[in-house]
Amino acid sequence: MSGEFEPLIIGFTCNWCSYRAADMAGTARFKYPPNIRLLRLMCSGRLDPTFVLKAFREGADGVLITGCHPGECHYIEQNYKALRRVLLLKRLLGSMGLNPERVKLVWASAAEGGRLAREISSFVEHVRALGPLGWPQRAMANGRYAAREEIEEVPA
Ligand code: FES
Repeated sequence: MSGEFEPLIIGFTCNWCSYRAADMAGTARFKYPPNIRLLRLMCSGRLDPTFVLKAFREGADGVLITGCHPGECHYIEQNYKALRRVLLLKRLLGSMGLNPERVKLVWASAAEGGRLAREISSFVEHVRALGPLGWPQRAMANGRYAAREEIEEVPA
């Protein structure tokens, strides 16, 4: 064990393109670091910004969002909406004191397994250089984490 910081990256992928690109990367044996956990959405436009905030709250150090190339979304223009949401989210994260570079948006078609593997590898290295985010640990230290869990136990 090297003792080097191993970032945890959550990757939101589109079912029709980038998830298949990740699959293709595996089939073709294009290597990428095991630091990423991929979650499949039907479209990048399904990404609610709160998913990203939840990922950070649960311990992610970076979030990669991937979708079909502009003009190729299976739901017409939802990836343009994803782009706008990500830009707004980055501004919000900046105002919260969180480096917006911890979030990255990548377009990848189903045939771009090699390119997606390179994007994942470079993002992992980028987040490694930024260092750990440590939101859960910081929240735990000042008692907010316990308060959140108490709130979630209240029936709707
Ligand atoms: Fe892939 Fe919309 S279907 S981004």
